[in-house]
Amino acid sequence: MFDEKRKKTLDEKNKESREKWDKLQFDSQQGRAGEDPYPTAVGSLRIPLYATKSYAYSSLTELLKNHYNYSRTENPTLYALDQKLATLHGGEAAVSVASGMAAVHLACSSIIQRRVERSRPKKIRALLPQNNPENIPNVVIHTNQYTGVYRLLTKIYSQFGVMTKIVDMRDPKELKDAIDESTKLVFVETPSNPNLDILDIQGCADLIHEVGGKCVVDNTFASPALQKPISLGADLVVESLTKFINGHGDTLGGVIIGPKNELQNIRYFWLETQGAVMHPYSAWLILRGCRTLSIRMERHCSNALKAARFLESHPKVAKVIYPGLETHPNHALAKKQMTNYGGMIGFELESMEECYKFIDLLKFIKIGVSLGDTTSLIEYTSVMTGIDLASWEKRRMNMSDTHFRFSLGLEDPNDIIKDLEQALEQI
Ligand SMILES: Cc1ncc(COP(=O)(O)O)c(C=O)c1O
Repeated sequence: MFDEKRKKTLDEKNKESREKWDKLQFDSQQGRAGEDPYPTAVGSLRIPLYATKSYAYSSLTELLKNHYNYSRTENPTLYALDQKLATLHGGEAAVSVASGMAAVHLACSSIIQRRVERSRPKKIRALLPQNNPENIPNVVIHTNQYTGVYRLLTKIYSQFGVMTKIVDMRDPKELKDAIDESTKLVFVETPSNPNLDILDIQGCADLIHEVGGKCVVDNTFASPALQKPISLGADLVVESLTKFINGHGDTLGGVIIGPKNELQNIRYFWLETQGAVMHPYSAWLILRGCRTLSIRMERHCSNALKAARFLESHPKVAKVIYPGLETHPNHALAKKQMTNYGGMIGFELESMEECYKFIDLLKFIKIGVSLGDTTSLIEYTSVMTGIDLASWEKRRMNMSDTHFRFSLGLEDPNDIIKDLEQALEQI
């Protein structure tokens, strides 16, 4: 239920708190923005876990005055998380949802099909691609990115009449040539999963803005501690909170950050209709994770750099990919748009046979999908994340058969390196 007047009261309160937190530094914001001023009823220093589906009032007048109504769109624990994440990104507003994929889906669908909400049925007919073949909406993505996003766009959205163009966005000319009047959106994931390609956020945003389209940036690998896409021209930012932001590997979540009007549309039309809601317990855990984000990122980054340097010096390692290494082809761009290079590295061995042997020899590092955890997690990319892709799709994504994606945890770097060393020695 959305009513401008009810929403206004909460927005006014939020405005005061935002003004206060915007003046402070990131490390102070991550701990307390969205949560301070603290709930005063019992002097609780922490936001309570509001495990409720609805909010009951003693009169209809009272109900209509209040912001909180039904937890599919409004919940105070989630609200605190939204305020914190919007502050950390320097965005006007945020909406936390069930997972990173839910955030990607909501952000993309709200941009591609936003006219549906505002159009009458007759108008919608005119917009349908089959009635308007020369005006098929299209989206541009990079050759390499999270396979879930690739699947969503190429295998699901394609059935709804959206065309996805796949180009190497590291080359601005390729991107420019792919954009036309019907391009609604350029989806930029940087650093990319799994190859750690670095894309120029400002450059991509400038190109799509020329035709009135939008730029969505997936900031999952960097987190706002290392990269703030809104300041670089992104219209919406999406993040999987499951990863570095929560950081403790105990829940899933996603967020969309951007201008207030867009986010209001996402919350009260798209989320309300699609229902990909975050549970308040997840919000409560992610609030806790967030409070130490920059400190954890420092360790993720330093462990990643140490492991990358070790692997680079090892004769059995064919290739190491880390944006913080001078050998990374986009090192200069990473240095420009990020404050550090992240907790993810990629490396390749000489053969698939060696890869199968190596991964089973690891004793300390855990084999598992996902990333951004306190525990170091490694995956054999083409047989784990890439399992459902055809070999031609892997080739198009530049996904190598001998590649490992490695998420550095917070353990002592010597223990991590020792484990890599003993496994490499035995292959
Ligand atoms: C870059 C990126 N975006 C989005 C997602 C999806 O996030 P979630 O697993 O929270 O749905 C992932 C998951 O690995 C990812 O790596």
